[in-house]
Amino acid sequence: MSHDELLSIYNDISVIDHPFVQHKLTSLRDKNTSTREFRMLVEELGTLIGYEATRDLETTDIEVETPLEKTMSPVLKGKKLCVVTIMRAGNGLAEGVLKLSPSARVGHIGLYRDPETKQPVEYYLKMPHSIDERTIIVVDPMLATGNSAIMAIDKMKEMGANHIRFICLFSAPEGITAFKKAHPDVAMYIGTIDRELDDHAYIRPGVGDAGDRIYGTL
Ligand code: URA
Repeated sequence: MSHDELLSIYNDISVIDHPFVQHKLTSLRDKNTSTREFRMLVEELGTLIGYEATRDLETTDIEVETPLEKTMSPVLKGKKLCVVTIMRAGNGLAEGVLKLSPSARVGHIGLYRDPETKQPVEYYLKMPHSIDERTIIVVDPMLATGNSAIMAIDKMKEMGANHIRFICLFSAPEGITAFKKAHPDVAMYIGTIDRELDDHAYIRPGVGDAGDRIYGTL
């Protein structure tokens, strides 16, 4: 399915086409980009896409005293955000989102792919309290089949979360379709929609294995 068809069928998909975002995504694609630079770029993109993904957070006015006078001025409303990283590749992206909101809480979910069933299996889950009262931002740089993100969000919902959004850098049309079928209520903030998944579930043209490139484990 083409990029435009996907965006016309499903609601709440934002492709962040800002030139800085697109430029940095191109640097990530380059096979000659070093581990150090790759990690830095993922973090920067977490901040840039996180900025768009939090544009509609609610605020409330409080009184503040400037050196000249008292005034009413907005602050973020409600409980602290919760950034949920799908380990391990999500960790770098989460660091970038946390630059916007350093006091956000952080949840971790560890999933590995069963070599036989090809389905994700949970090996770690740790969430902050009151996730039902927080805005949750689930992050994973790559949305390939969508299975990991779908399962992570299933878990969040089972635990009571009901304000969830999702950030990724690279996505495949197959992953977006699966994700939106499973979680039509979850807004997606995406760097780019690539051409397709290959037979090994790699995104093409993509960046290769994002976790390996972030951590230099190639
Ligand atoms: N995960 C990756 O790291 N890369 C892909 O292309 C797909 C899934």
